[in-house]
Amino acid sequence: MALRITVIGTGYLGATHAAAMAELGFEVLGLDIVPEKIEMLSAGRVPMYEPGLEEILKKHVAGIEGSSGRLRFTTSWEEVAEFGDVHFVCTNTPQKHGEYACDMSYVESAFDSLAPLLTRPVLVVGKSTVPVGSAARLAARLVELAPVGEGAELAWNPEFLREGFAVNDTLHPDRIVVGVESERAEKLLREVYAGPLAEGSPFVVTDFPTAELVKTSANSFLATKISFINAMAEVCEAADGDVVKLAEAIGHDERIGKKFLRAGIGFGGGCLPKDIRAFMARAGELGADQALTFLREVDSINMRRRGHMVELAREAVGGSSFLGKRVAVLGATFKPDSDDVRDSPALNVAGQIHLQGGQVTVFDPKGMDNARRLFPTLGYADTALDAVRGADVVLHLTEWREFRELDPEALGEAVGRRIILDGRNALDPEVWRGAGWTYRAMGRPKA
Ligand code: UDX
Repeated sequence: MALRITVIGTGYLGATHAAAMAELGFEVLGLDIVPEKIEMLSAGRVPMYEPGLEEILKKHVAGIEGSSGRLRFTTSWEEVAEFGDVHFVCTNTPQKHGEYACDMSYVESAFDSLAPLLTRPVLVVGKSTVPVGSAARLAARLVELAPVGEGAELAWNPEFLREGFAVNDTLHPDRIVVGVESERAEKLLREVYAGPLAEGSPFVVTDFPTAELVKTSANSFLATKISFINAMAEVCEAADGDVVKLAEAIGHDERIGKKFLRAGIGFGGGCLPKDIRAFMARAGELGADQALTFLREVDSINMRRRGHMVELAREAVGGSSFLGKRVAVLGATFKPDSDDVRDSPALNVAGQIHLQGGQVTVFDPKGMDNARRLFPTLGYADTALDAVRGADVVLHLTEWREFRELDPEALGEAVGRRIILDGRNALDPEVWRGAGWTYRAMGRPKA
């Protein structure tokens, strides 16, 4: 009989994973402890903006006309325990308040709720990003709490999906990493991922600690790459060099590669910042903190970018204060094609300027509701054109396609002064300068 799959926690990761498992042909039951989320998902609606997700959800959620009916959602742990052969745990692991370490309470309570209900052999698969050592501890707890004892086995299967590409990354992963302790677990996971494996996705089998470390080290590498190019941007600014050209030139070396070398206001979001901090905290606990001290520098280069953008904006409005100055901000999300504003560099810059007395007006194609919720005192406009009306300076802080397609002429008519600061190095300087704008970007020569 085909495997029946459950997905516990239906945030970005879980909602996408549940829909993708149904797309791969499995019967799937998703659980969340927030009833409103379950109501939305059961109606085929996604609680966040993620391109393509709503489409595959609607294709499979039971009760929707024309759907396969393979996907259902619930808040009942009993139902989940009764249904599943393989249980994926996709709960979030945010940064602890006032600490670098990650908050494991959601993962732990998922295990504590599920395990006592497991009466037949199952595989529980952790997907959340956790500190190394967690899987071994959770595996022991599972056996201790589950009535079926050692029949409840754990595997760790980190997830590498990017927001904005979550559906594609889940259906066609560039690698599948599984930390397992038995052949049975490996065999079951090969069955779950038979579709992507047939397409040629590499399958890497490891022990628990390595699987956990693959995730945190991959994110640390990506963060380091971004901070590296941003450090080069600082040097370029001091030496009158051009970081965009520099990135292009070093990227031709295949060992370096072109990707993740876009200098700007740096990385944010729900993963990279908190993951590198949790990694440092965990290394400290293990007595290996020296190995990761460079991540402290990666973090501080990254956070410095936000302050630097504020200073560029201050310079653009006259050099002293933001009082009485109108600042238009294009972009609020931490990256395009997402409505996520968690630790968003764009919103951070907007907030800093606002707190220093600037009149800030923000526009974002998808992030307005979340931005308003997080920062209700900022000004918001319904379109990019409305946001820039009368502005003394325009800040381009999230590289939405819509912003690249703006007409500098039309915008020029609306602003107070034609000055644009490109915090993402994504606009074409020639086009903007050609339309009479002063264009400045981070790590590039002034004119
Ligand atoms: C990241 C990892 O890429 C993914 O593998 C992991 O599973 C979760 O964390 P995500 O948070 O969706 O994914 O965003 P990502 O595309 O990695 O971008 C992170 C941040 O870096 C964004 O704020 C982006 O604007 C910034 N960035 C990215 C740069 O500043 N420059 C670059 O060259 C690339």
